[in-house]
Amino acid sequence: MVLTSAGGLFISIEGPDGSGKTTQARMLQEKLEKRGRRVLLTREPGGTSIGEEVRGILLNPLFCEMTVPCEIFLYGAARAQLVSQVIRPSLEKGTIVISDRFIDSSIAYQGYAGGEDPEMIHTLNLWATAGLLPGKTFLLDLPVEKGLERLQSKPGEYAGGDRIERKNEHFHRRVRAGFLQLAKQDPQRIFLVNAEKPPEKVHEQIWGQVRDLL
Ligand SMILES: Nc1ncnc2c1ncn2[C@@H]1O[C@H](COP(=O)(O)OP(=O)(O)OP(=O)(O)O)[C@@H](O)[C@H]1O
Ligand SMILES: [Mg+2]
Repeated sequence: MVLTSAGGLFISIEGPDGSGKTTQARMLQEKLEKRGRRVLLTREPGGTSIGEEVRGILLNPLFCEMTVPCEIFLYGAARAQLVSQVIRPSLEKGTIVISDRFIDSSIAYQGYAGGEDPEMIHTLNLWATAGLLPGKTFLLDLPVEKGLERLQSKPGEYAGGDRIERKNEHFHRRVRAGFLQLAKQDPQRIFLVNAEKPPEKVHEQIWGQVRDLL
């Protein structure tokens, strides 16, 4: 059974590398808090002590031998822990949860770009989250070169980019196409955002939708 938002409001921000997810997640958090809402902002992979350790394994450029199935399970493991330990309890308390990436990233990166079956990744992850999906997902879309260009001026956790950022441009194009395919399949949940605009304009597109959900 798919349980959208577990009775609360669960929002995910998705998109390719450098599309502005973290920037927009923070702007949305700030806007909601200014309006007196309790908000939890979390990120994937990570968001728990276990998840942050797994993040270190996943993104470390030294582990270039990692297989796609290994990635699928590590992302899924971190996600299972995050949902059970943080996201679900927060939603049950009425807190609005914003997640910087969620299941759609696994389907886009390891499925459409990585070559594993998108349906299988979807099923496996719904098991990991005990059926939890976001009520609304914002897909930040922009040309691949623009996202990668933005990252060059951002001080990241790893000099020269993390293990995923270092993949070739062809891979990142498949990620973008995969996200767009997901948005086409689930237009009710996934809202496509033009992420080429300045941060404030991107935020306006997101806020227009979130306001209606409150
Ligand atoms: N709308 C925008 N226009 C121009 N630059 C932006 C915009 N949004 C964010 N940036 C800048 O682009 C860089 C990447 O933004 P951000 O870290 O929010 O992206 P991200 O999608 O979270 O990246 P990552 O995939 O690495 O997590 C940052 O330096 C940020 O300041
Ligand atoms: Mg980010």
